[in-house]
Amino acid sequence: MFRYLAAIAALLMVAGCAARATLKEAYSKDFLVGVALNKEQIEGKRHRETALIKKQFDSITPENVLKWEKVHPEPNVYNFELADKYVEFGKKNNMFIVGHTLVWHHQTPRWVFEDENGKPVDRDTLLKRMKDHIFTVVGRYKGRVDGWDVVNEAVSSGGRLRKTRWLDIIGDDYIAKAFEYAREADPNAELYYNDYDLWIKGHRVVAVHLVKNLQAAGVRVDGVGLQGHWTLDSPPLNEIEATIEAFAELGVKVMITELDVSVLPSASNVTGADISKNFELRKELNPYPNRLPAEMQKKLAKRYADLFSLFYKHADAISRVTFWGLHDGVSWRHNWPVRGRTDYPLLFDSHCRPKPAFGAVIKVAEGDE
Ligand code: GLA
Repeated sequence: MFRYLAAIAALLMVAGCAARATLKEAYSKDFLVGVALNKEQIEGKRHRETALIKKQFDSITPENVLKWEKVHPEPNVYNFELADKYVEFGKKNNMFIVGHTLVWHHQTPRWVFEDENGKPVDRDTLLKRMKDHIFTVVGRYKGRVDGWDVVNEAVSSGGRLRKTRWLDIIGDDYIAKAFEYAREADPNAELYYNDYDLWIKGHRVVAVHLVKNLQAAGVRVDGVGLQGHWTLDSPPLNEIEATIEAFAELGVKVMITELDVSVLPSASNVTGADISKNFELRKELNPYPNRLPAEMQKKLAKRYADLFSLFYKHADAISRVTFWGLHDGVSWRHNWPVRGRTDYPLLFDSHCRPKPAFGAVIKVAEGDE
């Protein structure tokens, strides 16, 4: 009798595995599941990775190739080769294509803000540069890029707008202007505000206020992206939930845009993704240089299950969940917030094999969680 039951159980398991959905299938009724692509993947140099991307995801975001310094490194010099390949890849595979990012204080060359003598330009000049950039980049992919991160990280931890050269030179309305130019350049593309730490009440309140003001001024904002560079125990789920609800109430789409979950000890309680922060490597901050122990795999799977249960619960509000990288081998988290560690933040290991966290995420959608 026992052997008979065991045989049936084994058969069911095999059938279950064979029938096991991919991420995009499992969440097809809920939200898009996206992935950020790096340069090598866009160049088509990684065949196994390309196959996995096509199989599992229905949306893509470029990790770097559409950032200002890459696409527009000098005045009047645009490099569209990789960005074109990126968009072609998405089109060919019928994916929702995200453009990332138009206006940001990082990865934007100094010349944008300066005249030929290195002095800050005036408001009109910077607005003109912003407009030219947005018109050229968004205009090139009009009707093909589905949504743009128009402004990235404009809110500071001090509960106000972040002090950047955009803000200094143009003033508070630089955000509204960026959205207006993007809308003019492609009226049918979705336009987003994207940021980290929005789960922290101080940030959230400022960002909610920002979106409300834009809406009141007739500026169209279609969605807000919560970056999602998180860890095993931070942020707390209730704060993420409060954030999803706060933006959903404004009538904008909510997206988790750059999801990864570090399993490593935190360095100086750093949260978010301020790429100018970096801490010294100490041995105790890098406890798993060779492999992730089974009990940590389990913790990661549990954390991912909790996060996806929350996203699933709010699937009406959430339009997309995008992972910041395909597999552990290509994650930026090895070098942030501490350089030179070995982290395991994604659903696939560095050989592209699904980790227990992958199964946990699928299970949530299949309702077995
Ligand atoms: C921020 C940006 C991303 C990326 C990450 C680090 O979250 O939005 O484009 O640079 O930092 O990789």
